[in-house]
Amino acid sequence: MAQFSPTFLDELISRTDLAAIIARHVELKPSGANLVGLCPFHHEKTPSFSVSVDKQMYYCFGCGKGGNAFRFLMEHDGYPFPEAVEFLAQKAGMPIPASYVKNPKEEARKKQGLDLLTKVAGVFARCLQSDEGKKASLYFTQRKLPATIIQRYQLGYAPAGYGFMKRCFGDEPKILQQLESIGVLVSNERGFADRFRERVMFPIRDKQGHVVGFGGRILGDGEPKYLNSPETDFYHKSNLLYGYSEHREFVRKHKMLVVVEGYMDVLAMAAYDLPYAVAPLGTAITEPQLQNILRLHEAPIFCFDGDRAGRQAAWRSIERMLPLLKTEHSPKFLYLPDGEDPDTLLQKEGKEAFEKRLNDDAKPMLETWLTGLKNIAGDGAEGRARMAKKADQMLLNMSDNYLRQAWQSEIEKISGVALQQQKRPQFTASARHQISPKLQQRLIVSPMKHDLFMAALLQKPKYFRSLPEDAFNFFIDTNPAYPIYTRAFSLAGVEETTELDIAAQLMREFPDNHNIARWVNLPLVEDDEFQMLLLDMHITYLDGLRGRSEGLTVIIRINEELKALRNQQHKLNNSLKNKKTL
Ligand code: GTP
Ligand code: MN
Repeated sequence: MAQFSPTFLDELISRTDLAAIIARHVELKPSGANLVGLCPFHHEKTPSFSVSVDKQMYYCFGCGKGGNAFRFLMEHDGYPFPEAVEFLAQKAGMPIPASYVKNPKEEARKKQGLDLLTKVAGVFARCLQSDEGKKASLYFTQRKLPATIIQRYQLGYAPAGYGFMKRCFGDEPKILQQLESIGVLVSNERGFADRFRERVMFPIRDKQGHVVGFGGRILGDGEPKYLNSPETDFYHKSNLLYGYSEHREFVRKHKMLVVVEGYMDVLAMAAYDLPYAVAPLGTAITEPQLQNILRLHEAPIFCFDGDRAGRQAAWRSIERMLPLLKTEHSPKFLYLPDGEDPDTLLQKEGKEAFEKRLNDDAKPMLETWLTGLKNIAGDGAEGRARMAKKADQMLLNMSDNYLRQAWQSEIEKISGVALQQQKRPQFTASARHQISPKLQQRLIVSPMKHDLFMAALLQKPKYFRSLPEDAFNFFIDTNPAYPIYTRAFSLAGVEETTELDIAAQLMREFPDNHNIARWVNLPLVEDDEFQMLLLDMHITYLDGLRGRSEGLTVIIRINEELKALRNQQHKLNNSLKNKKTL
């Protein structure tokens, strides 16, 4: 796929009002040079979400989400990058450049596929309302799904027989092949036949709300109870969630998200005016699905049947969620009475009792994990040892350092066993130098200085041009984010680059690096502060170099240099103090 040209993207960003895009979801108030508000990515009571109007970038100091307008549309609204560009271009009244050929054939084919899926959902929905669909309407009535829900979720019916699609769309080979490619026809030696027959149909939508596939339930008993679309260009069962696009806005507004097992649970909850459930599509929940769930809401409640299978499913979800978990997340787990699901419970005990369960009985993930470990490990000293061992293995998959330590100390308390310390490297040491443990310790604190440094550089790129030659060396070997620093330096070396250019160019080259947006949204760095920082970093660097050097003459030279720098530092410090007292 061809790429948008950097000039086009820059122009588009400069013509976009990021604050306006964000203000559709967040109330923003001026604060210093920036605008601030409550973060739309995580739940908070005091604003830590900042929008830099100058640089057209946002950053949340609470959860670390940040970026430009493209990123916001992608992360918040679920647009793929090209669609985010198209959306903004349309808003800004900029035509998409002709040089951007998105492989027009491929695009046209995709669009045709999506259009056809929408039409198919339409014919299923109409069929449900027709005479042919009487049985199916009755089935929904029995299951207490009101007409409003049937309409809102576009539920439908695929009638008996093998030729409904042909009846609706004709039998031209081209259209039949298309219907096969979107998964509603199957082909065999006798030709094309309907995949879904005598089933009530649930259209499944992607994040943007396009119908991409279907789930079909048999009326009454029979096998298979549910039949889903096969994997197609549009339908990827491990990435999609039923109810996601329908409920996203509500979840964001009302800060409530429940993960259930089936289509009918999602719909029953909606029918009881609880439109905040999502469900995987008949498979155990996958990592991408969990990622989407945690991005949508930091405290989802996972509902499971209280039987053995339900507990196993809960355990699998915990295992898969560990690598994704951050300190801002607080997922909960709720076991329902044996053999019940949200659908049956709502019918039995009504809305309020069900909501009460959600509020009162859902247990934090940590608690669920500890109980699960206890059950797996069994009793006695051996049980406690098994518990610790299993926990130790599982904790290895946890990527958040702090959370891992917190969970570790909980399990140690309960099992009475000290876990083997599983330390992860803080940063990858370069192959060029062995860094002494002493130096390592110092370097671990320095990312904060790097942050301040980069903030200064992106805010006032003129700093770049006045840097001493070995400024680079402050960064060498000290941080895994090294490539981004190098790139920032070389970008800044170009005389005519503006502040926006550097930040925007970095965003393009390191789209997943949230630091860029953070640097841009940090408070303005004053000149003196920057000078101090430079000296400080220079000294730290030379100190480290001295530790690694062997030749006596080299060490003497470094010592002299250090002495001079410390002198400067001292002077600058004094003048700063004087300034403050004035
Ligand atoms: P109802 O019986 O209609 O209430 O369905 P349910 O949603 O309670 O279904 P159940 O608890 O039996 O299963 C949960 C989910 O697993 C369903 O929503 C389907 O997505 C999936 N599922 C159940 N049975 C089948 C099946 O036979 N085939 C496939 N592919 N998926 C199934
Ligand atoms: Mn059910």
